[in-house]
Amino acid sequence: MKTDISTKIAGVKLETCVFNASGPLDETLRDLRNLNNSASSAIMMKSCTIEPRQGNPAPRYANLEYGSINSMGLPNQGYKAYLEFSETLRKETKKPIIASICGMNVEENITMFKAFNDTPVDLIEFNPGSPNTIGKPIVGYDTKAMDKLLKAVSKVSKKPFGVKLPPYFDLGHYQQIADIIKKYPVKFVTCINSIGNGLAINPKTERTLIKPKGGLGGIGGHYAKFHALANVRKFYELFEDKIQVIGAGGVYTGTDAFEFILAGASAVQIGTAFIQQGPQVFEKVQNELRDLMQSKGYAKLSDFRGKLKTLD
Ligand code: DHB
Repeated sequence: MKTDISTKIAGVKLETCVFNASGPLDETLRDLRNLNNSASSAIMMKSCTIEPRQGNPAPRYANLEYGSINSMGLPNQGYKAYLEFSETLRKETKKPIIASICGMNVEENITMFKAFNDTPVDLIEFNPGSPNTIGKPIVGYDTKAMDKLLKAVSKVSKKPFGVKLPPYFDLGHYQQIADIIKKYPVKFVTCINSIGNGLAINPKTERTLIKPKGGLGGIGGHYAKFHALANVRKFYELFEDKIQVIGAGGVYTGTDAFEFILAGASAVQIGTAFIQQGPQVFEKVQNELRDLMQSKGYAKLSDFRGKLKTLD
């Protein structure tokens, strides 16, 4: 029996359900070529803004015992570079190419969505707000702003697009956000962005681990997995599988990937583990997922996707 871990996102075929999360090691053409040479099943690009950005002052990323903290501040080469990178990569790869758009306001997002219409990118992941932009609230927690942004980009996008969401913690918030997303032609949601505004401290030096925002940053890695799983599960239920869910947050192993798919995810992304373990992590997670499925007698993702059992 050959184990098939392929998937489709918005009708786009991915050879496996495991690829990189937007953020780590995906800013330069060199980074993106490295991803092409890895087993990542898609090439996800860094969230882009209108102008190139240096990002926040260093140190702005730190490994933690069970994950990571970052306040990168959206360092990226500006969207025009990613339009070009997508053209260059298209000549070099068959893998789906995914743009991540993170404008600072409605107009900027419209400009970038329109520009990517004329590129070979296969999908767009709309990142309505970084948790680390100094002076900006997390947009995913502002339902009115989300509605306005989704309405605007839905009008102009000719590419299938999804939305990267921050973690929600209150059951009422899932319903509010799902109701907004359902009004628009959103094909998928990615759950979750890093858990905003954690604080990591070095007790020896009595200092924060990172410099920006008084040491506050987004938390990822193992710490994020349980909230990521909950967000995947709730949106899977609320969307009744009509809008797909991609899991991100603490995927280090094939078992982690399996849990996300059991909760309803159609694919998983790897962020912190990619930084910590390098590009081999994609193949490792894929092989472990295949082995686990084989041991359970599952031949393909649809054999268990969403079929999480509860105790009641
Ligand atoms: C950054 C972090 C995020 O979590 C995000 O969604 C976008 C950008 C950053 O700090 O670069």
